[in-house]
Amino acid sequence: MQSVLRYLDLGSVSLAVLLGLVTLVLLEIFKLIASKSRCPPGPTPLPFVGNLIQFMKDPVNTTRSTLQYGELCSMYVGRRPMIVLNTYEVVKEALVQKGSVYSGRPYMPLIEWISNGYGIVAVTYGHAWRQQRRFALHTFRNFGLGKKTVEERVVEEAHCLITEMLKHEGKAFNPMHPIMNAVSNIICSMVFGDRFDYDNKRFAKLLEILNENIRLSGSAVGLIFNLIPFIKYLPGPHQKVRQNASALIGFIREVMEEHREKLDEENLRDYIDAYLVEISKQESKEDSTFHEENLLMSTADLFLAGTETTTTTLRWGLIFMMNHPEVQERCHEEIVRVLGYDRSPCMDDRIRLPYTHATVHEILRFGNIVPLGVVHQTTEESQLRGYTIPKGTEIAPNLMAIMQDKEHWKHPDTFNPENFLDENGQFCKNEFFLAFSLGPRVCLGESLARTELFIFLTSLLQKLQFSWPPDAPPIDMDGIMGVIRMPYNFSIICRSRERSVPSSPVTP
Ligand code: HEM
Repeated sequence: MQSVLRYLDLGSVSLAVLLGLVTLVLLEIFKLIASKSRCPPGPTPLPFVGNLIQFMKDPVNTTRSTLQYGELCSMYVGRRPMIVLNTYEVVKEALVQKGSVYSGRPYMPLIEWISNGYGIVAVTYGHAWRQQRRFALHTFRNFGLGKKTVEERVVEEAHCLITEMLKHEGKAFNPMHPIMNAVSNIICSMVFGDRFDYDNKRFAKLLEILNENIRLSGSAVGLIFNLIPFIKYLPGPHQKVRQNASALIGFIREVMEEHREKLDEENLRDYIDAYLVEISKQESKEDSTFHEENLLMSTADLFLAGTETTTTTLRWGLIFMMNHPEVQERCHEEIVRVLGYDRSPCMDDRIRLPYTHATVHEILRFGNIVPLGVVHQTTEESQLRGYTIPKGTEIAPNLMAIMQDKEHWKHPDTFNPENFLDENGQFCKNEFFLAFSLGPRVCLGESLARTELFIFLTSLLQKLQFSWPPDAPPIDMDGIMGVIRMPYNFSIICRSRERSVPSSPVTP
């Protein structure tokens, strides 16, 4: 070996390395060309990184630009193609008609690193996912989802939120924490059996790290980690994601231990109690996926998915209300005409509050908070619109494109509740409204989210008036794009509504 090295000078080593690199890049380019020829059209990818740089530079416009390629578009996430589904028809064909083939989830090194493959959201289509999802849905129903009890909890929490906001009356403040705490308290009461006061420092910290993790994992940090998982051994911002996740899991573990001590099988209080009982019930079954680790991760998933999405929607809602004071006034007038100033709203009021109901839908449509859905993966080879889609291909339903499709919306590119009203001013559904996606993976919390959004927004607009502080800088309406499209931090001014308008409440 030494004798060989003696004949190699630095120049020839560099040349050999260079040749090796050029060969590698050329091979990669040939591989890409071959892969692209089999895939639907899309923007030209670069070797190794694909279209990631383009996506990271301008995620909103890159997502929009996929439309020019037709109903299917290929984008390369690193070296793998991801097929973006751009129309309602193709999303329905894939996620509903071929639901079992298109409902997998891709392997994401970052998620795997923090979840060990447990939970609901990131688990691929199969037995474990089915058991956990069914159990969560069933337990939520048992604990009052779709019944008056959950509505009543949201009404109580809306009162707490209004009281909290009024502490800042007339002064500019960032509404992020009170909204997030309020929303989170609903899922907390179902999962942990408890709510947390807005000045609870420990809980505030937990909400902060939760938000940070959603931001980091959808940003360049998550994208780079998924390309080069080896960096887990190196310092960097990805370590923060892991630390944050451990803090959240640690918190849930403490709650779980407390629950275990006080568990009364005859009197289950919440999801954690129900889960602990399920673990013992299924203990003897070989195919049971109920165990402590899954309890922790499923709870974390519900907590995360149930907090960040609804909070973000309400924050966009406030922005739209301040940008469109005429919509805010019309909602307020409708609410006080029907409910007066004091009667709290309930879900049955939706029919009597068509404009407000339409506004909630328009906030979800135009807020577009999960623009590319949560990425799916094919579980076997499939045919879609003349293309052979191999097993293991990533699939992204372009919910943003469908909810702004010019052919199916009266006002696709502007915030306008008329999108959900008929000529008589009554609420009308639009099948192209896909905020919660479709198929077997459809949002598990859809019904809870609808209840929260309607009751929180109606209560806020009944009692408060929102406006921008006079010195507020213009807000970037593209927001921060990760899996969730969040607005940048902003401040608001809220004022209690004067009771000068005479009201004649209509009883439900
Ligand atoms: C405005 C509020 C919300 C929006 C817009 C929203 C939207 C979505 C979307 C688009 C998906 C992906 C579906 C797919 O993979 O095709 C999803 C999944 C999910 N959502 Fe929501 N969501 C919201 C609120 C909630 C709430 C309150 C919960 C609480 C329980 C929740 C729990 C979940 C879970 C667990 C999943 C994963 C389902 C699975 O993989 O089987 N979401 N959501």
